[in-house]
Amino acid sequence: MRTQVAIIGSGPSGLLLGQLLAGIGVETIILERSSREHVLGRVRAGVLEQGTVELLEEAGVAARLHAEGLPHSGISLAFDGRLHRIDLAALTGGKHVTVYGQTEVTHDLMDRREAAGLATVYEASDVALHDFDGAAPFVTYDKDGISHRIDCDFIAGCDGYHGVSRKSVPSAALKTFERQYPFGWLGVLAEVPPADHELVYANHERGFALCSMRSTHRSRYYVQCPQDDRVEAWSDDRFWDELRRRLPERTAASVTIGPSFEKSIAPLRSFVAEPMRFGRLFLVGDAAHIVPPTGAKGLNLAASDVRYLFAGLREFYVGKSQAGIEAYSQKALARVWKAVRFSWWMTTMLHRFPDTGDFGQRIQEAELDYLVHSQAASTALAENYVGLPY
Ligand code: FAD
Ligand code: DHB
Repeated sequence: MRTQVAIIGSGPSGLLLGQLLAGIGVETIILERSSREHVLGRVRAGVLEQGTVELLEEAGVAARLHAEGLPHSGISLAFDGRLHRIDLAALTGGKHVTVYGQTEVTHDLMDRREAAGLATVYEASDVALHDFDGAAPFVTYDKDGISHRIDCDFIAGCDGYHGVSRKSVPSAALKTFERQYPFGWLGVLAEVPPADHELVYANHERGFALCSMRSTHRSRYYVQCPQDDRVEAWSDDRFWDELRRRLPERTAASVTIGPSFEKSIAPLRSFVAEPMRFGRLFLVGDAAHIVPPTGAKGLNLAASDVRYLFAGLREFYVGKSQAGIEAYSQKALARVWKAVRFSWWMTTMLHRFPDTGDFGQRIQEAELDYLVHSQAASTALAENYVGLPY
């Protein structure tokens, strides 16, 4: 088999890249380790930057997003027993974010790919990348016990943090940067109306909490929990109790309680691998970097990598120039590091750390107080939250 770009992974980055390339007549095959149902069953991000929405529009997959997504022009920070609103739109010249689940984005992209008759191999095992440091790379995999080979011009490694692409690069060619945070997030999804019409990020002495949503009738909540905590230790009752204790009284009173239908614990880490290109292999999205979820940047960063890579590949196939693919890593990393910084800062400001101490505690309180009373500081948060320019 031969294709132009072999894409490893059918998460949002692989699917979006495939769709954009299809729009300029470039052929792709996606190899995905899991089943379609498994990929769609993972509950992850929920907030899209305007630039991500524009890219989904360019890919022709934004109709349902515009019909069902919720534009949000502000968020609230909760501390000191009350809400402090950050007016994102007023502070950024009218920009907003859109609340629309990653599951829905992935669903829309998969439907579109299927309708266009583009090739995706689900449950492809033992995917291996070969000769990407030369001019003729290829990928091998097994499907139903039969081995296959795909020759290609390029390989896009869109296979997430645990994927094979980054691991295929010789470790001497890769520099990695990492920070682990000493806690996780317990996330719950419930078919109940959200506590507030906007997102609430709460700093509380019992730990961080976040009130988010997927729609006007489906809520997504998170609470900071110990790193080694287990979902089984959290009954619904315990979760709702803990969530409400961490929110200002009026917000807590607005929490509608109902049975959860998804509950999971995610670790928090920052990770970056440099560079993001090795010859004819590109790393894209979580395959190259992870951010703690506090700034809602993971999915948006994956989309911004796709934007840069798509521009580079378009220059290669349409403009007959290598300049774009040669600049990919540098351009993508410049934006990645700003989001890594923002996510680290939001995480540091909003969570309880085991070793903060009284001094650190007062610094956190001063930072929050400064943030909500200074237009300059609020603007810095707002412009990062809605998404920095490309
Ligand atoms: P992924 O979505 O990870 O997709 C990679 C795909 O590659 C997967 O389908 C995987 O099955 C496939 N794959 C892996 N290995 C192989 C292989 N060897 N061969 C073939 N295919 C392979 N971000 C936020 O902004 N907000 C959040 O609340 C949030 N919550 C998260 C919760 C969790 C538990 C996790 C893990 C991430 C969360 N994120 C969140 C981050 C966000 O979901 C990711 O940044 C986003 O999914 C990145 O997309 P991606 O396409 O690069 O990678
Ligand atoms: C969601 C997750 C986030 O990490 C965040 O900052 C905002 C919203 C969510 O899953 O809805």
